[in-house]
Amino acid sequence: MNNRYKIAIVIVTFLVSFSCRLQAQTGNSRGPAYDPVQSLKEAFRDDFLIGTALNMSQVEERDPVVSALISKQFSTFTPENNMKGALIQPGWDRYNFEQADEMVRFAAKYNMKINAHCLIWHSQLPSFMAGMQDADSVRHYFTDHITTVASRYDGKVYSWDVVNEALNEDGTMRKSIFERYLGDDYIVEAFRLAQKAAPHTQLYYNDYNIEHEKKREGVVALVKKIQAAGVRIDGVGIQGHWTAGHVPFQDIEKSILEFSALGVKVMFTELDLSVLPSPRNHNTADVGDKADYAETLNPYVKGLPDSVQNVLADSYAQLFRLFMKYRDKIGRVTFWGVDDGQSWLNGFPVRGRTNYPLLFDRQLKPKPAFYKVIETAM
Ligand code: XIL
Repeated sequence: MNNRYKIAIVIVTFLVSFSCRLQAQTGNSRGPAYDPVQSLKEAFRDDFLIGTALNMSQVEERDPVVSALISKQFSTFTPENNMKGALIQPGWDRYNFEQADEMVRFAAKYNMKINAHCLIWHSQLPSFMAGMQDADSVRHYFTDHITTVASRYDGKVYSWDVVNEALNEDGTMRKSIFERYLGDDYIVEAFRLAQKAAPHTQLYYNDYNIEHEKKREGVVALVKKIQAAGVRIDGVGIQGHWTAGHVPFQDIEKSILEFSALGVKVMFTELDLSVLPSPRNHNTADVGDKADYAETLNPYVKGLPDSVQNVLADSYAQLFRLFMKYRDKIGRVTFWGVDDGQSWLNGFPVRGRTNYPLLFDRQLKPKPAFYKVIETAM
């Protein structure tokens, strides 16, 4: 080999290794970008479980890098959609357990707990419920669904969100097919049936905005009603769909204290902090509440400015400092998704936006918020 060749080889080798390093730093390639030494579940091991929401492509392990991230970072997960009514009972008295069983398999493989979500909810119901107008049919669905599904997964899942989002913002009962045909006591009945079918499973009530005073009072009354009926409820899940820079810390603190005073565990079950402007009058995680697209509502299509990245990191850090203060009362903190690309907030309440609400970016690289959260555990 003459000298000119040798020099050319040295230059090419240098350029290739330099560009690989650059890619890793900017997070443009998946492999090298995801290599955090730290682990959320390890950092908070003595404090509370750390969870995420998972979908089928993650559980079917189409990308081994994703599986590695999930198993290293999280001790528990909630199926984002696959254990909801519409998916698990697609036809009248016809159940499809395939996807839920996959979730159980994944959890066993990686030694993770499952929070199953959810038995009774007004949304994502089977389509056959849409035109249903008689109490007997509603009662049949209600009883059969809870009993069949909860008993099948008893001992396989750690907990169930037995009832999801049953209250209005003022703490009164939300109008739903269950409330209409079964009456206000349907919630107590749901827990009674779940307790019978799943004696080894933790049973929770889950909702959004319940840190706000009126809705919080509604939850306190509800838990007391369930307990007074001699029925078991083990915890309350505060969803935690908030906005970076506007997290209601005082209300959250009051809620932790008031709920735990009832003798139940407090969970943060669907945590994400939106960084996008909220459409007018919109401060809810009500899945039925959509808003129209406008470019002004989608300002960070090309990337998140450092200033906003820092607001996000600070909000997360303050939140986890609060969680740590009450770690004896908190059972679990679950993020609603693994990385920003997965987040439902790219499509809700406005379709087609680019949001950045989680701790891992679209290349699975930990964001500044990840490191700030880990620091709060030390
Ligand atoms: C959301 C999922 O993330 C979306 O994929 C789906 O299209 C709609 O539901 N409160 C809940 C969750 O309890 O089940 C919702 O999940 C988000 C709001």
